[in-house]
Amino acid sequence: MYSQLTKNEKIIKLAKIGNSWVDTLDSFELISPIDGRVIGLIADCGPKEALQAIDASEEAFELWKATSVDTRYQILSHWARLIVEEKNQLAEIMALEMGKPIKEGKKEVDYAASFVWWYAEEAKRIYGVTIPAPVPSKRIVVLYEPVGPVLAITPWNFPAAMVTRKAASAIAAGCTIIIKPAERSPLTATFLASLWDKAGGPPGVLQVLPTANPERLCKVFFDDFRIRKISFTGSIPVGKAIYKEAAKTLKGVLLELGGNAPMIVFADADIDTAIREAIQAKFRNAGQACVAVNRLYVEKKISEPFCSKLVEETKKLVLGDPFLPSTDIGPLVGEQSLQKIHSLLADVLEKGGKILCGGESQGLYFAPTIVWVSDPSARILNEEIFGPVLPVIHFETEREVISWSNATNYGLASYVMTSDLKRAFRLSESLRFGIVGINDGRPSCCQAPFGGIKESGIGREGGQWGIKEFLETKYLSFNLD
Ligand code: SIN
Repeated sequence: MYSQLTKNEKIIKLAKIGNSWVDTLDSFELISPIDGRVIGLIADCGPKEALQAIDASEEAFELWKATSVDTRYQILSHWARLIVEEKNQLAEIMALEMGKPIKEGKKEVDYAASFVWWYAEEAKRIYGVTIPAPVPSKRIVVLYEPVGPVLAITPWNFPAAMVTRKAASAIAAGCTIIIKPAERSPLTATFLASLWDKAGGPPGVLQVLPTANPERLCKVFFDDFRIRKISFTGSIPVGKAIYKEAAKTLKGVLLELGGNAPMIVFADADIDTAIREAIQAKFRNAGQACVAVNRLYVEKKISEPFCSKLVEETKKLVLGDPFLPSTDIGPLVGEQSLQKIHSLLADVLEKGGKILCGGESQGLYFAPTIVWVSDPSARILNEEIFGPVLPVIHFETEREVISWSNATNYGLASYVMTSDLKRAFRLSESLRFGIVGINDGRPSCCQAPFGGIKESGIGREGGQWGIKEFLETKYLSFNLD
């Protein structure tokens, strides 16, 4: 289906509903951020398709939950193998639809596949428990059962990994899943669904419904009692709206919302490590990640040498065509992101800040930028940037930097650079975030819990935690009298 895909062709994509690839009456144009070209006409699913998908999901659920864990393991691991085999193709699709550089896209495919491998194994470890009963004639057994059909609303910034992180854990648990991919990245999701088919995935277990009108489509899912869990990655306002909608039929929610990650660099840190990890944590995916460093606090006594080295390393990053193997940073995903970055920079400059490198843009291509901040009230320190701009500000005491770091409603990721073990523990325990990277700017991996506290979300994806989100606890009481 995708074998003809090249940089210069237009593709028509369908939705995956039940066992079929269906065409819809309406379609929408998919525009590449590389050059603004229309690269595809995408199925625009609406209420009719949503109902068909829920029916198929419910029907498939009865069969899938009864399917042995060995079969779940076989299909999921076959899916993972196919994903890795199609690494180049997937990286090209991502480059085309959301601008991720090919070399980074390939890493994302490995990351995406790692969740499928992990959950293929995890399916076998949904252990129940027996508990000593209060009376000799009774036996207590606790089982875990899949919650039911799931709706996943996935983001454009990691269009492969966020699909597999949600889908593999739900499917391993015995759930069926309907994916509503971001309007900007429907092709990656539908391609993954075609690989699911190839891997022998049964009909109705994984469906993909792209749309240009998410509110109209998702209303049907929100209102339908049969959908028992919603897994969403995206913004805080949308997450809150989904939480409200889910309450109407008391669906479970798994919400991965935004971040405003601080990175704190102490004078005792290994500076080369701190710079390498800062670059990694900021410029991965052109800064378009919820866990991206959003503000860097550097201890005053090292701020000058630190900044000059940081600028030197940032200037080495290559901005350009995501299809070129040398490119580190591709275009931003859209005009809105560009406007936001320009307005944050204008604000910081008005408040006495200074651009140390970058700052310029051409079309959606924004140069990797380091900006010195002198006023802590600058918007750039307090709002999610979602772009390749790193604000740096100095601090003098540990106590002050902890309080600045925590002064946010966000609570996803945070980073500490230090060689002092006692300080590392103190900071890890003081920072109010779901993730703390200690001398580590890239803590995400399939084995670990990913998720935030405060307004950054509810629940965890990844590792042993991710599968539990899709399981209900059932208690059996045997009276043997
Ligand atoms: C995200 O920031 O949206 C996800 C990135 C990750 O999984 O590391």
